[in-house]
Amino acid sequence: MDFLTLFVIYVAVVLTCIALVCKYSGQQQTPFHTIFNAVAKVFAPITPKWLQKFSQWALHRLFHQRSNMFIYVHLLLEGAVYAEFTYEVFGYCRDMDTTLTSLSVPYILLAFKSSFFYLCIKRDPGTVTKKKVAGQLQIYPYDKRLFHPGVACPTCQLVKPARSKHCRVCNRCVQRFDHHCVWVNNCIGSQNTRYFLLYLFSLCAMAGDIALLTADMLLHAVLRSGLLRSSYIDEHGLQQQAGPLFVVQHLFLSFPRIIFMLGFLVFVFFLLAGYALFHTYLALVNQTSNEWYKSRGYVCQHCHPSTTADHFCSPAPDQSKRHYYSRGLLRNLGEIFFPPQPVQKKDN
Ligand SMILES: *[C@@H]1O[C@H](CO)[C@@H](O)[C@H](O)[C@H]1NC(C)=O
Ligand SMILES: [Zn+2]
Ligand SMILES: [Zn+2]
Repeated sequence: MDFLTLFVIYVAVVLTCIALVCKYSGQQQTPFHTIFNAVAKVFAPITPKWLQKFSQWALHRLFHQRSNMFIYVHLLLEGAVYAEFTYEVFGYCRDMDTTLTSLSVPYILLAFKSSFFYLCIKRDPGTVTKKKVAGQLQIYPYDKRLFHPGVACPTCQLVKPARSKHCRVCNRCVQRFDHHCVWVNNCIGSQNTRYFLLYLFSLCAMAGDIALLTADMLLHAVLRSGLLRSSYIDEHGLQQQAGPLFVVQHLFLSFPRIIFMLGFLVFVFFLLAGYALFHTYLALVNQTSNEWYKSRGYVCQHCHPSTTADHFCSPAPDQSKRHYYSRGLLRNLGEIFFPPQPVQKKDN
């Protein structure tokens, strides 16, 4: 493949990733929406009706209905990175005397990440059911600000426990609802937040570790080639010292796939690290993303009992009521890793 094709593919993949991640942050008003709506408006007069209908359907199918699409995208990207790492970087690193131990770390991380990923997908996030609801109502008291007692979900026809929310994608109420994550095609709730956190961290570590190994390999390749000490003859016949730009160009031409992979990994790493830090913060202060958005007035509290789309109130209704109930960092973490289970009453 030539340079330009690779570059176009790379840019397309990165842009798609940014768009998807914006969407997946769980907010309603994302840059992705704004851009999409703007683009849709511009192209509306020249796009045929069927195409408009189709894209609306596709968006709905992808983001408002359960689908395994993003699980496949995830596996595909991961497969591509690991194939590239195994076939190109691994051999190079072995030649450079990188120890087998440090080269096996990415595979160990992959094993950890895959198990957390699996648990996130498979674990019930804490669905509110007819059988369990009595016990689930006992777990958290209503704060009468974000969550009010005695409100029933119109769809599930069950009383909403405090901190729960109806997920419109899965069509169920979920205990200690955080958000619906399209990447695992599941809600993140009381019973799988711990796996979600571990998943985020292992994914971050994976991207970071492979990026470091790759950067190390490229550095050695440059040092070994003696490029930094060499010089070349330019078009005017003058002798020029090979500068950093020359080295970068050389790397791009000799290892295009590896460079693209490295760029992708660095991008993914910073994005995920930011997201993981946000979720760590929430975990430490005993808040869910849902509560975080709500307490900042991103979600209208007046229409909260209804299951219709949570719309955004601007300006935010009560910025001052930012609050959370924290009994200390360790206890907050404890509650995430050992979530309180609803006691089931036996009726006899
Ligand atoms: C977390 O917050 C809830 C209320 O939202 C509270 O009932 C619970 O006791 C708190 N847990 C800890 C460990 O502070
Ligand atoms: Zn519901
Ligand atoms: Zn859901």
